[in-house]
Amino acid sequence: MKPPATKLPTSRLIAGNWKMNGLKVSVAELDLLLAAAPPAGAELLLCPPATLVASFARRASASHVRIGAQDCHWAQSGAHTGDISAEMLADAGASHIIVGHSERRADHGETDSMVRRKAEAVARAGCIAILCVGESLEQRDSGQTLDVISRQLEGSVPTDSVPEGLVIAYEPVWAIGTGHTPTTAQVAEVHAAIAGRMGAGFRLLYGGSVKPSNAAELLAVPHVDGALVGGASLKAGDFLAIAGAAA
Ligand code: 13P
Repeated sequence: MKPPATKLPTSRLIAGNWKMNGLKVSVAELDLLLAAAPPAGAELLLCPPATLVASFARRASASHVRIGAQDCHWAQSGAHTGDISAEMLADAGASHIIVGHSERRADHGETDSMVRRKAEAVARAGCIAILCVGESLEQRDSGQTLDVISRQLEGSVPTDSVPEGLVIAYEPVWAIGTGHTPTTAQVAEVHAAIAGRMGAGFRLLYGGSVKPSNAAELLAVPHVDGALVGGASLKAGDFLAIAGAAA
């Protein structure tokens, strides 16, 4: 990894992943985010489904809320029916694109090498990739967590990644949508390992059942530079409360 060329922001990145949720009327939640005062010490990013990226990005332009996407194809264009390229999402106004989410790995058989090609596509399009890694419960219970994370990083992080273009999200699969979170010691162990592997400057997010009641303690863990929030990002009030915990 190259050292950072410029100083990165020290504020926390609070990113919302709406997954396959949201219709046109959901713009009301975005409007609540836009109407609220920018949270101190936090940057807000909302990743709605692809159908809403362009309209949300237009509405949030010139605001403190950035709009991202949840996945992309690795090719720039071509015969890939139903797929969306990073260039198209950048054109629609996305600043960030999530790649390698465990739900895509599970639902669509995405492998580390596919995730790497997607992360490369995100950089090519001038967006920032949020690359997700995380172990299953079975892997944690059998003591493989750090090996799994290391293998995922090895296989999916492009070799020329720079901190300005890549964020890593640690999302233990067993913590996603379950209400269960790792202990702060477990989060600290994994984040320290990722920080050691990536080198200085890369932002690391924690994701998995982050909610207003646990955000402050998770965001206080060393090497946790923000959160990737699923369910609790669907309601602006909860999302803002999580961002408020970053202060
Ligand atoms: P939950 O916050 O709903 O557990 O989802 C986490 C996640 O997968 C974010 O990408």
